Amino acid sequence: MADSIFKRYLEKKNNLIKNRGILQATYVPDVLLHRDYQIEEIVDIVAPSLNKDKPSNIIIIGQTGTGKTAVVNYVGHELERADAENKNCRYIYVNCEVIDTPYSILYNISNQIITDPNKKIPFTGWSLEKIFNELANYIDDENKIFIVVLDEIDMSFKKNGDDIFYYLTTINEMLKNSRVSIIGITNNSTFAEKFLSPRIRSRLGEEKIVFPPYTPEQLIDILKNRAEQAFYPNVLDNSVIPYCAAISAQGSGDARKALDLLRISADIAERNGDSIVTSAHVDYARQKIELDAVVEVIKTLTDQSKIVLMSIIKTPSSNDTGSVTTGEVYTTYVELSKNLGYNPLSQRMVANLISEMDMLGIITARVKSFGRGGRTKEIDVNKVSNDVFSILSSDDIFRGMNLNQKLKKQTTLM
Ligand SMILES: Nc1ncnc2c1ncn2[C@@H]1O[C@H](COP(=O)(O)OP(=O)(O)OP(=O)(O)O)[C@@H](O)[C@H]1O
Ligand SMILES: [Mg+2]
Repeated sequence: MADSIFKRYLEKKNNLIKNRGILQATYVPDVLLHRDYQIEEIVDIVAPSLNKDKPSNIIIIGQTGTGKTAVVNYVGHELERADAENKNCRYIYVNCEVIDTPYSILYNISNQIITDPNKKIPFTGWSLEKIFNELANYIDDENKIFIVVLDEIDMSFKKNGDDIFYYLTTINEMLKNSRVSIIGITNNSTFAEKFLSPRIRSRLGEEKIVFPPYTPEQLIDILKNRAEQAFYPNVLDNSVIPYCAAISAQGSGDARKALDLLRISADIAERNGDSIVTSAHVDYARQKIELDAVVEVIKTLTDQSKIVLMSIIKTPSSNDTGSVTTGEVYTTYVELSKNLGYNPLSQRMVANLISEMDMLGIITARVKSFGRGGRTKEIDVNKVSNDVFSILSSDDIFRGMNLNQKLKKQTTLM
C-alpha cells in the first residue's frame, strides 16, 4: 500500500505539547491568579442576591486580556453553585460583540430563561416593545434575582446606541416579584465617561471595578500555571515564559496575548521538530502574530489605499535611510493607478490615505520639514516588508501586473 500523505505527521510524535486545549483562549482555567481583589469585590456586591436582595449594577473596566470575562464568569458559576439549593438567583451572560442588536440581546436573554420550547421567542418579527414586555413577564414569573452580564457593551453601543441599557436598567420598574442587576463589561476606559448618556451612566455604574493590566511577574505566574498542565516536563527553556510575559506586559499587560505567544511558539518548535522551545521560537511567534494582524488590516483596505501602499513599496528611495517622501510616492502612485485603470486621486487625498495607514500601523510616516518652508512626510518602508508585498501582489487588483522588479529594501519577517 502506498504511504499515507500524512505519513510525516503520523510519524512525528507530539513531543512538546501534552494538552493543547489548555493553551487555547477558550479554555476556562480552574484558578484565576492575581485577581483575588476583583473577585472579592464582585462577590461582595452580588452576594445579596443569594437572599433575594437586588445587588447594585456594576460596570467593569479594563484593557483587553486582563481577565474581565474570565473573572465574571467564574464568579457567576460560583454564585449558581452557592445558590443550588435555594434557587434565589439566575446568572445570565451575553456577549454583545456576537449578539449585537437590541432585539438579539433581548431574544438571547429571554430564551435563556424560557424553558418551554413552544414558548420560545421567534428569531425575528416581534417589535422591541413586545419582546421587552414578554421578557419582563417571564422574569417576574420566576420570582428571582437576575444577574445579567453584558460583555463588550461598547460594541453594542457603537452599533445601536444606549437604548438597550436603558431598557434593561429600567426593567425593575415593571417587575413585582423579581429584580434585575446588570454587570456591564468594557475594555474601553473612556467609553463609560464619554459615550454613555448621564441617565444610563448613573444607573449602570452604581459600582465601578477596574481591572489593571497584569505586571510581567503576574503574567509569569499565569503562564507557569498553564504550562505545567499543558507541556511535557522540561520542554520549555527557562527564558521562554519570562520572555512571553515581558513582551505581553508592554503597554497592555494582556494575558491572552501572553498565552497566544506561548502556544504559537510551541507550535513552531513542534512543527520544526525541535526538542525544546526557546526564546528564538518566541521571536518567530511574535512576528507571526504581527504579520497575521497586518494581513487582516490589508484585507480591509480600499483599492485606492492598496495602490498607495504598493506605490510606497515600489518607490525607490533617494536617501540612505531607505525612506521615501509623499511626493516621491505620489509620482509612482499616479503611474500605477493609470496602469490599473483607476483615476488618480489628488496628492492631498493620497497623503490622507498614507496617514490612515500610519494609524493602522502598517507603515510609519513622520512629518519632516524642509529648509525652504515646504513640509512633507517621510515614510519608513522598513515596516513594509517583503511579506506585505507578497500579500498585496496576490490581491485581485494587481493580478496580471508585472510587479516583480527587485525591491530595494527587503525585510523578511518569517
Ligand atoms: N488571572 C488569570 N489567571 C489565569 N488565566 C487568566 C487570568 N486572566 C486572564 N486569563 C486568561 O487570559 C485570557 C484572556 O482573559 P479574558 O478573556 O478574561 O480577558 P478580558 O479582560 O475579558 O479581555 P477582552 O477585553 O479582550 O474581552 C483567557 O484565556 C483567560 O483564561
Ligand atoms: Mg472579555
